[in-house]
Amino acid sequence: MRKQIAAANWKMNLSYQEGEQLLKDVMTSDVTLAEHHQVIFAVPHPYLVMAQNAVSEKRGFYAAAQNCSQHEKGAYTGEVSAPMLQSVGVEYCIVGHSERREYFREDNATLAQKLNLCFQVGITPIFCCGEPLEVRDREKQNEFVAQQLQESLFHLEDAQASQLVIAYEPIWAIGTGRTASAAQAQEMHAFIRSVLAAQWSEEVAGKVSILYGGSVKGANAQEIFANEDVDGGLVGGASLQAAEFVQIIKALKH
Ligand code: PGA
Repeated sequence: MRKQIAAANWKMNLSYQEGEQLLKDVMTSDVTLAEHHQVIFAVPHPYLVMAQNAVSEKRGFYAAAQNCSQHEKGAYTGEVSAPMLQSVGVEYCIVGHSERREYFREDNATLAQKLNLCFQVGITPIFCCGEPLEVRDREKQNEFVAQQLQESLFHLEDAQASQLVIAYEPIWAIGTGRTASAAQAQEMHAFIRSVLAAQWSEEVAGKVSILYGGSVKGANAQEIFANEDVDGGLVGGASLQAAEFVQIIKALKH
């Protein structure tokens, strides 16, 4: 089976001490991961080394950055590069979260540069896509997401594309408590997979884990993850409480 992934996106929340405790609570809980399960914690940059140490104690657990620069190095005050992340052992990085796109004006071309740098240093990008509400209301979500994929991903080689993790996060479902229905999620995930198959191959498309994000919580995770093309979730708010996130991990397909 494809990798099934529960990814926590802490965003700009929690102190170092709170983060350390949360990691410990999840890691020492009674969850047992199947061979094809992965649990990823996307933490603020200053916590990465701590998180990296914490996750290295158990198979299947990983730390991720929430963002990286589109530049490799140099005079970019305040930025963190993909090679820097790699140098502290980070294996995953979220690229193109809708909050980065909206508040920091990251466009599809910039995200393509970030993806290239991640691949150059062996970091697996978790590439986010998803439409705003007005696009969904006009029923143009497929066209919108296809363009995001085309402009940021289509230049990748087969071997890179097959390593991608994609997170479909309809913007109207992020932090709003309004989740896409299981049917809406499955429909879009199958569409994304068909776009990957057309650009690369069925084989590549079959390898890519496509996560759903947007108000996933303990109570709805199982219904969403049960769909054929949904390979887990990218979880914001509900990942900040150990018990809730553990319930989400337990909802991964077996
Ligand atoms: P949410 O956020 O689970 O709080 O809706 C998801 C995300 O933005 O990754």
